[in-house]
Amino acid sequence: MSGPATAPSELHVVGGAPLRGRLRLPGCKGISHRALIFAAIADGRSTVRGLADGADVASTMTVLDGLGVKLRPDGDAVSVRGLGFDGLREPTSVLDCGNSGTTMRMLAGLLAGRDFFAVLVGDESLSARPMRRVLDPIAAMGARVDGRDGGARAPITVRGGSLRGVRHQLATASGQVKTALILAGLQAEGTTEIVEPAPSRDHTERMLAALGVEIDRPSPETVSVARGEPMPFELTVPGDPSSAAFFVVGACITPGSDLVLEAVSLNPARIGYVDVLRRMGAEIDVVVTGEQVGEPVGDISVRAAELHGTDIAGDESIIDELPVLAVAAAFAEGTTTIHSAAELAVKESNRIGTMEQELTQLGIGVETRPDGLVIRGGAPRGASLKSHGDHRIAMAGAIAGLAAEGETTVRGFAATAISYPGFARDLASVLAQ
Ligand code: S3P
Repeated sequence: MSGPATAPSELHVVGGAPLRGRLRLPGCKGISHRALIFAAIADGRSTVRGLADGADVASTMTVLDGLGVKLRPDGDAVSVRGLGFDGLREPTSVLDCGNSGTTMRMLAGLLAGRDFFAVLVGDESLSARPMRRVLDPIAAMGARVDGRDGGARAPITVRGGSLRGVRHQLATASGQVKTALILAGLQAEGTTEIVEPAPSRDHTERMLAALGVEIDRPSPETVSVARGEPMPFELTVPGDPSSAAFFVVGACITPGSDLVLEAVSLNPARIGYVDVLRRMGAEIDVVVTGEQVGEPVGDISVRAAELHGTDIAGDESIIDELPVLAVAAAFAEGTTTIHSAAELAVKESNRIGTMEQELTQLGIGVETRPDGLVIRGGAPRGASLKSHGDHRIAMAGAIAGLAAEGETTVRGFAATAISYPGFARDLASVLAQ
């Protein structure tokens, strides 16, 4: 990676060229959002290097700025003058979360404990996504909340205040909702406990523990916190494991590929896709080389291999990678079933429907289910694909084009600016001529 990148509006890929060499990915989006929020509520100056450069993380910065937090670019870093919870001030206008569900949900939890009024808005896609999952539990702690569609969708309003700790039994495992409730719990009287039906990504717990917050994990599904504030910190954000997944699948399915992805977050809750691909026959090595705020960091090496179909049970550790795993399935021999992944339908697009449409364009047999897809692997042929305004569908389409026969075009490719504006440039840098 070097310099700021602009996502092209359309991408053309000619199938057949392998991926070779080494690549350093932009910073992990999930860690970047959290680092900015934790820096804002710490009392003092923090420095974050290698932040994700996409529009989602920029949305978090815009919203924090609206709460009075000073964020200043400092070379390749961002310097944040944290205000502590009590220094945040009532915003004078709406807080625009753009396309970022992570920003809206986490901020709702943060604002629940602030004694002022805030309105959170988003783009069309974000305004269609479910918000009760975060609004109901913060209301149970004492915040006054509302939203469009009877309180279900954005725009949402939060009038925060004194909170009391509550034991939350969540219906859906969600790293975003869990983080929101931890942020509320850090401002509440008594203990806040969050119990999930299955473990979700644990960046928040690892990072806050490394920043001096007492945070208990009585079981993998349960987190418990009391009042507290993180200390200011310095952090270099490791590479994004979900962005890495596109290149990992690309190298698996394109004969002759041999690629190393450097300094990626190897948080076990984020690299479940490596196990799925290995089960499909992939040749992938993962080596931990260091640690950043409680997060293991290291390299992922991958070589092309013949893949075969498998059964994939969706869970939070692979939910964002399912579009590109569906592409791997399209090139695998036999049938792949993705199930227990109903959450796919409420992401940036309805990914069950959008993946079905795009795989069908590639000539692959696909059936949809309410909780997933059945994909009959074969020999995809180049096609004209669409992003549906969804960054991960755009990048999955580009990866399919790498190994499809002939030429593939992905329209609406500018959507990649959400998480990875430099994707097209980085892909070109590892495409062997
Ligand atoms: C995220 C959690 C996941 C994931 C999203 C980022 C996070 O969402 O899909 O891209 O950073 O905690 P859910 O919490 O809705 O599962």
